[in-house]
Amino acid sequence: MPSSRRNMFSKALPSALWLLLANLWHFLCSLMQLIPDLKTSPSRPAKGQITFHRHRGLQCISPLMQTVEETPQPIPTKIKGYIPKWINGNLLRNGPGKFEFGEEKFNHWFDGMALLHQFQLKNGTVTYRSKFLQSSSYLMNSQNNRIVASEFGTLAMPDPCKSIFGRFVSRFEMPQPSDNACVNYVIYKGDYYVSNENIFMHKVDPETLETKEKVDWSKFVAVNGATAHPHYESDGTAYNMGNSYGKHGSRYNIIQIPPQKSNCSDLLQGAKVLCSIAPKDKMKPSYYHSFGMSKNYIIFVEQPIKLNLLQIITSKLRGKAIAEGITWEPQYNTYFHVVNKHTGEVLPGQWYTKPFVTFHQINAFEDHGCVVVDLCCQDSGTALATYKLQNLRRTGEGLDQVYNSIPRAFPRRFVLPLHVSADTPVGKNLNPLSYTSARAVKDADGKVRCIHENLHPEGFENVGGLEFPQINYTQCNGRKYRFFYGCGFRHLVGDSLLKVDVETKTFKVR
Ligand SMILES: [Fe+2]
Repeated sequence: MPSSRRNMFSKALPSALWLLLANLWHFLCSLMQLIPDLKTSPSRPAKGQITFHRHRGLQCISPLMQTVEETPQPIPTKIKGYIPKWINGNLLRNGPGKFEFGEEKFNHWFDGMALLHQFQLKNGTVTYRSKFLQSSSYLMNSQNNRIVASEFGTLAMPDPCKSIFGRFVSRFEMPQPSDNACVNYVIYKGDYYVSNENIFMHKVDPETLETKEKVDWSKFVAVNGATAHPHYESDGTAYNMGNSYGKHGSRYNIIQIPPQKSNCSDLLQGAKVLCSIAPKDKMKPSYYHSFGMSKNYIIFVEQPIKLNLLQIITSKLRGKAIAEGITWEPQYNTYFHVVNKHTGEVLPGQWYTKPFVTFHQINAFEDHGCVVVDLCCQDSGTALATYKLQNLRRTGEGLDQVYNSIPRAFPRRFVLPLHVSADTPVGKNLNPLSYTSARAVKDADGKVRCIHENLHPEGFENVGGLEFPQINYTQCNGRKYRFFYGCGFRHLVGDSLLKVDVETKTFKVR
């Protein structure tokens, strides 16, 4: 869809996508600490039951959800232990750092204004600095000393200085996407950007944390945003996914961004849509936070967290936040789409499994005519709504209740046999790989039902499941691999580092 034809309707929708953002997920990563002795429940859930596990012991995490001052000049840090002198560089993190303007407060953790962090490692020492992203939302909110731009979980109120009639009319204006970008750093053509999942990114200087240019995805390629988790080839070619919205509804798009600049002012020039996929329901596309990539394929998981477009575009009129247009609808299964990244061809197979939610994919690779895809999975998609600030600022038993209402995430493996035809027998396990017990069975209607393998042993729930998976990306992405790392969550903030061996399905805790 050419950008010139895109109307306000299509421009407004991507703001919904922040959600994901889940800044939460990223911010949690940098909060691995705390948590005294936790009482754990070793009981195992019944088969098929959603896995909630009860823990107690964390009194308060509200200091982590409060506005902080930026630290624009580097300051020294205290180091426990030893940092090898050969590690030199900048560790960059991004997350929400300001939760109110004047008397008005944001409602959701993901709404906070982006604060860019830099830990500079040099000869065994570390300095720290931080700066707020100078987004239009941040600047407008600051200048007006109130929340002017709506965020994922917060609907901006009309200007109190407007007349009663003016405030009434403003309800009928389309919701405009915020350009707050507090989820992740991403790299395109060697440049650093911070990204949410909406239509805007910001180019930033990784040395000074200065905000450079605001980039509108739709100026370069016909999408209304992209995830904050692109994949990269060894030559720097990047792949991402983003939705587009038009008069015919929505599409999922796979984007390819070339590795090199054509000139010094080049941003995303040359980006193109490789493939466009129709949602099962065009007015209720699925939410996705990441996707998988093997040597030859992109793997997209269409899951039953739904963006109700009608509710989202009428959110301002109804006085609701965009977050309220996102729903968990487990009456739908979860589907896998496999796309040849060289040709853009969507493979004809129809792979599905029971409803689950994934935010972060671990890895994907090909073996003996199959795609193996490893994911962190939750059996319920209700967690996003739980991360309202009023919940996270509870204390004691109230905070325990919040934690216990969130399903744990567990690493799981799915095997997708790529060569399924009319001759393929029904009811037979099509997984030829001896090292995984995942199953894939063709149904009478030709679809392939996938049953996962747990990439963890029994008792893994005692470490709170695992999220924020990381592999040695340069060496292992798209290839058969053995280890990955992640955060254990024995409460709302990560409290341990886990190393998982996917061959032995064992793990270590630090
Ligand atoms: Fe993420």
